[in-house]
Amino acid sequence: MHCLIRCKKLALCLLTALAINSSFAQSADKFFPKKDLMTIGSYYYPEQWPHAYWERDLKKMGELGFDFTHFGEFAWAFIEPEEGKFDFSWLDEAVALAHKNGIKVILCTSSPTPPVWLAQKHPEILMVNENGTTMQHGSRQQISWSSPVYRQYVSKMVEALAKHYANDNRIWGWQLDNEPSHYGQYDYSEAAQKSFRNWLKNKYQNIDSLNATWGTAFWSLRYSTFDQVRIPNAKELIAQPNPHAVLDFKRFSSDEVTEFLGMQYQILRKHIPANQWITTNLMPEHAPVEPTRMTNLDFVTYTKYLVAGYDKGIGPQGFRMGSPTSIAYANDLFRSVNGTTGVMELQPGQVNWGKFNPQPLAGTVRMWIWHAFAGGNKFVCNYRFKQPLTGGEQYHYGIIGTDGVSVSTSGVEYTQVIKELKSIKPQYDANAKMPAAYASRLTAVLYSPDSRWEEDNQPQTYQWDYMQHLMRYYGGLKQLNAPVDVITEDKDFSKYPVMVAPSYQLLDAKLVERWRRYAENGGHLILTSRTGQKDRNGKLWEMKWAEPIYNLIGAKISFYDLMPDSVKGTIQMNARIYNWNNWADIIEPNAGTQVWATYTNQFYAGKAAVINRKLGKGSVTFVGPDTDNGDLEKDVLRRVYQQAGIPIKELPAGVILDWRDGFWVGVNYGDRPYNVTVPTNGKVLIGDKVLKPAGVVVWKE
Ligand code: GAL
Repeated sequence: MHCLIRCKKLALCLLTALAINSSFAQSADKFFPKKDLMTIGSYYYPEQWPHAYWERDLKKMGELGFDFTHFGEFAWAFIEPEEGKFDFSWLDEAVALAHKNGIKVILCTSSPTPPVWLAQKHPEILMVNENGTTMQHGSRQQISWSSPVYRQYVSKMVEALAKHYANDNRIWGWQLDNEPSHYGQYDYSEAAQKSFRNWLKNKYQNIDSLNATWGTAFWSLRYSTFDQVRIPNAKELIAQPNPHAVLDFKRFSSDEVTEFLGMQYQILRKHIPANQWITTNLMPEHAPVEPTRMTNLDFVTYTKYLVAGYDKGIGPQGFRMGSPTSIAYANDLFRSVNGTTGVMELQPGQVNWGKFNPQPLAGTVRMWIWHAFAGGNKFVCNYRFKQPLTGGEQYHYGIIGTDGVSVSTSGVEYTQVIKELKSIKPQYDANAKMPAAYASRLTAVLYSPDSRWEEDNQPQTYQWDYMQHLMRYYGGLKQLNAPVDVITEDKDFSKYPVMVAPSYQLLDAKLVERWRRYAENGGHLILTSRTGQKDRNGKLWEMKWAEPIYNLIGAKISFYDLMPDSVKGTIQMNARIYNWNNWADIIEPNAGTQVWATYTNQFYAGKAAVINRKLGKGSVTFVGPDTDNGDLEKDVLRRVYQQAGIPIKELPAGVILDWRDGFWVGVNYGDRPYNVTVPTNGKVLIGDKVLKPAGVVVWKE
């Protein structure tokens, strides 16, 4: 009987998953014929090299098999050398040479690098950092996205570019700006102050409403007009800034860059052909700029550098490969925003800007490219074709070394992948269906930028980190071989048999109701530490602690506890003991709610740490603690799948197996070989069943 129920549930999950066929949404897919699988390109800066080299370099790029190149994201001083005088002759020539060599062009808007004449004429366009220092000409991204003057100049430059290349079929697509981010800094310029006030006016309409939401009655913060508000800046305040002001400022900053790019998008769209796409490239880790809010572009792409001395990876050589979740998470987040994505920059080998800059392990660059393929990317663009001899990026690898002609080690790996991709293209099967067992594990990670911003600002313990917390679940999911979409609330929940919403601190009754319906209809929902404490404005509920989720989880949250990293809290689930000291929600379950794990020390020993309840056709699990190693989190995920009758596949740390367009792809960031099981009717197309560290295997079943 028990088995029958499990089988029925499994069948239901499979049907749901198969109905959608694949986890990848389709909206922006139209730009990329599926049969092309994934194409490979490389960055080139004609303006950085003597004119005499262009022909040789682009010929070489074509000979090595690159499909496309990438021009112009830093070229404003060459496009508009004097105000209003545009010069596209050099770019025309470069585009023509690319075309002659069979290479398509991604053309960029050069907004991150205004020419020196512009900053000198209009210093008010410059960004001001938290210390009040005005950023100067001499690097890049020194401008304020809020400056109307800067926006005006950007508009003119983009319009000129768009008109010049309107209907030019040699252009494949467009990139706006470059990694718009201010590299993690916020803008406190006068232009930003003004724009923030306007944003607040729009949001609150009247100042009383702002005063009420921000709780300005405390510390006499109250404002009489919007003009009195300043951007909250810890560097110019004696005590901590108002948390609601900080949250609004983070939202504003993200909106500001989204709107700035939207402005460029609109100008380009007026002129360019409908089959040319418009995107930007973002760093997945950077909190100030939020890719999930950039739904005003055709899609968003990411940039990835894994080996730069920061990421230890797995095992003694892990620092030469990076972590398996790095590219994986970027794939699953960016693909979900508008249904498709590409890697706009991928590390080509050694870089120049890291904590230290090691050589990647032999084979790693190839593995990264295949990992990008596995995650559904439509293209990978290598950064950069030539190692520069002068300027800001000396010591940065390219496909071609310092002599200008020799192919570097990573260049060799790139050309290998180009050939390998070509070799599997004939095997593409438009009717391939995602394998049923794999599809049945399809899981959504519900990501909340608002909760991230709020918790980053009020962590409550030096050990709290929203992204690390989320990654513990994400990493566990990948080790259980689940296909994952990292989604935000604007997306449909119903296609996911399982959904994890890590630390959803800010919510409202509507979301709780959506979650309830999701579970009642058969979904398996996992909620975690800190969830439901506040409303959307960051106000604590005038109710019991986190009360809005009590009915949903079938329990009360009595209190939370935090400890120093020298003290180990213990938790028991089944026979296993887990340690924690970052965060613990202590739970009081209602009758009928199952206790899966219990705290076994501290003054609340015996209280519930993890609970689970059935709800309608699905279930709700609440995980109170946040551990360091993620073992508890992974074991909870496994238990949820098992209880739901969803088959799991255990992978060792470092191994990623993904399915895409009929191909299984395995990559190994670990320190041990892994034997991939390929069924007897399956066929290995690339690599070997014994998946070595930094290895790749591609097979069909
Ligand atoms: C990226 C940036 C590129 C280049 C690269 C060097 O973050 O977008 O323009 O500077 O780093 O590794």
